[in-house]
Amino acid sequence: MSLAIISPGKNPNAWINVIRTLDPTLKIQVYPDISNPEEVEIAFLWQHPEGLLAKFPNLKLISSMGAGVDHILRDQSIDSKIPIVRIVDEKLTWSMTNYVVMGVLNYHRQLPRYQKDKLRKVWDMSTPELEVTVGVMGVGALGYDVMEKLAMMDFSVVGFGFSEKKDFKYPYYSKSELPEFLKSVNVVICLLPLTAATENVLNEAFFSKCTPGTYLINVARGKHLVEEDLIQALDQGQLSGAMLDVYRTEPLPETHPFWDDPRITMTPHIASVTNPKAAAPQLMENIKRIKENREVLNLVDRIKGY
Ligand code: GLV
Repeated sequence: MSLAIISPGKNPNAWINVIRTLDPTLKIQVYPDISNPEEVEIAFLWQHPEGLLAKFPNLKLISSMGAGVDHILRDQSIDSKIPIVRIVDEKLTWSMTNYVVMGVLNYHRQLPRYQKDKLRKVWDMSTPELEVTVGVMGVGALGYDVMEKLAMMDFSVVGFGFSEKKDFKYPYYSKSELPEFLKSVNVVICLLPLTAATENVLNEAFFSKCTPGTYLINVARGKHLVEEDLIQALDQGQLSGAMLDVYRTEPLPETHPFWDDPRITMTPHIASVTNPKAAAPQLMENIKRIKENREVLNLVDRIKGY
């Protein structure tokens, strides 16, 4: 049996080093140098070439290298009987929450405004804090932690998701209640999984329902956002600014209008990068469970798409 690491364009060495310390006997093959495809029982993936997994006749488990699995589920050729798992780990959650808290505070305490004032030597003490009610779209492992930490800091938090939820700790709106959700918040965080239902959810119709001046933080996937509609919503004042970590095309092309737009704060998909040391034990545990015919951790529901 061997583990295939398939992450084109991403150096897998950090993963290989940690996996080797955890199990020196595990055979690892790294794409594109997979000389024994019939030996591959576990595939560890990030943005694999579509159709590739069909070359592994003895595949028993597919694991994402990150929290998201949209890059796996878009490959229709994957045998529906093979379990797919994702990474859920405390370090990943911690990094994501820290990033979102930074975004919320940046809006609330207006750091970009004071940076501009500094350049112009302006001393303006007016309105030192903006009022904030945070709406978190997607209340799974990541979204829930964001809500907990912001609530701990005494921010009002409201959740939104595509499914109904009972007995949720915070106010929660489901799909049909989107207008009420957007009316009740002025900072929107997108942490939804990317599925057919959530693709393009941040669009013109969505922005038209926002409280005017809403601040948007998208840390989920670029495909949640219709990028032209964001610029239009900023022009119209429906949004006052945005902080983006993900884009429809990554790396963002040099000609993209977001680069020069001062209303958009940008980072290059680094909000929460999986840490091999923190996440590899979970992969190893799942390999063990597969060998022992036991239920795997963090199994993805293919119908739901996360
Ligand atoms: C990052 O985008 C992830 O899905 O972990």
